[in-house]
Amino acid sequence: MVDLLIVGPNGDMGRALVRSAASTPQVELIGGVGPKGRDYIGLDLGLLVGLGRPLGVCVSDEIGTLIDAADVVLECTRPAVSLEVLDVCLEHRRAFVTGTTGFSDEQRARLREAATTIPVLHASNGSTIVHLLYELVSHVSRAAGGSADIDIVEIHQNRKLDAPSGTAQEIAQKIATALELDLDRAAEYGRVGTGRRRPGSIQYSSIRSGGTPSTHCVIFGFENERLELAHQAYNAGAFADGLIQGALFVSGKDPGWYQLEEVFEEK
Ligand SMILES: NC(=O)c1ccc[n+]([C@@H]2O[C@H](COP(=O)([O-])OP(=O)(O)OC[C@H]3O[C@@H](n4cnc5c(N)ncnc54)[C@H](OP(=O)(O)O)[C@@H]3O)[C@@H](O)[C@H]2O)c1
Repeated sequence: MVDLLIVGPNGDMGRALVRSAASTPQVELIGGVGPKGRDYIGLDLGLLVGLGRPLGVCVSDEIGTLIDAADVVLECTRPAVSLEVLDVCLEHRRAFVTGTTGFSDEQRARLREAATTIPVLHASNGSTIVHLLYELVSHVSRAAGGSADIDIVEIHQNRKLDAPSGTAQEIAQKIATALELDLDRAAEYGRVGTGRRRPGSIQYSSIRSGGTPSTHCVIFGFENERLELAHQAYNAGAFADGLIQGALFVSGKDPGWYQLEEVFEEK
């Protein structure tokens, strides 16, 4: 049994994580942590996320009171909050799993550094189906990507802060690896003005629109035809189960940097 603490349980992802954790027999939820001053502090987690039944554990605004009871801390919030939580995990030697996206290079380096002291797993996409998309994209890139114009179009709800999405960046990295390209040089963001497309470029387009669920489409454009690989999540539940599996995976592990690929491969 893994004792799990969820930070940010009121968010879209946080609610899905609580629901997924509550239906996973190997997980014992020990509570949630929200920001100070929220009216849901003190509420039972099950009632907060609309399970329709109490889970017998509440939301606190003080992570220090709960962390020692946890094996793993799981969070999907925003980068600055993630790093505050990471510091607490380091202090208390607890495993840290994050699905937050939008980390800067410097913040990523802090996650990597923490992995020398505690188990750390960062997954910018928790969906097993999106990990299948990664494999398909790698395969198509190796087979025919060199002769294609490649675009990654991602559409998300208008509340999403970071762009391109972490998933779009993962996809681009898979393409760059398959084609042996330096992604920093190949990447182009949006298109404006005049001029032909640069050969060998990987073009990102990011759309933020209403309540649109997470959508990624990779377009391989050839002279006389086009191949599209697309994924659409209907809701945050698409991502939650994989992150919960990640939390189970890192529990009891040695300090280190873990990835969801290993979790899915093991299964
Ligand atoms: N890995 C994946 O598969 C995946 C999938 C989708 C999204 N994401 C990423 O996950 C992150 C969250 O996305 P979301 O859609 O769930 O956003 P969201 O609905 O805005 O939720 C963010 C949550 O963080 C909470 N929060 C803010 N400051 C906090 C603090 N100091 N302590 C504790 N909680 C705090 C907020 O609390 P309040 O509600 O009280 O404001 C809110 O509930 C984003 O980076 C997003 O890109 C990852």
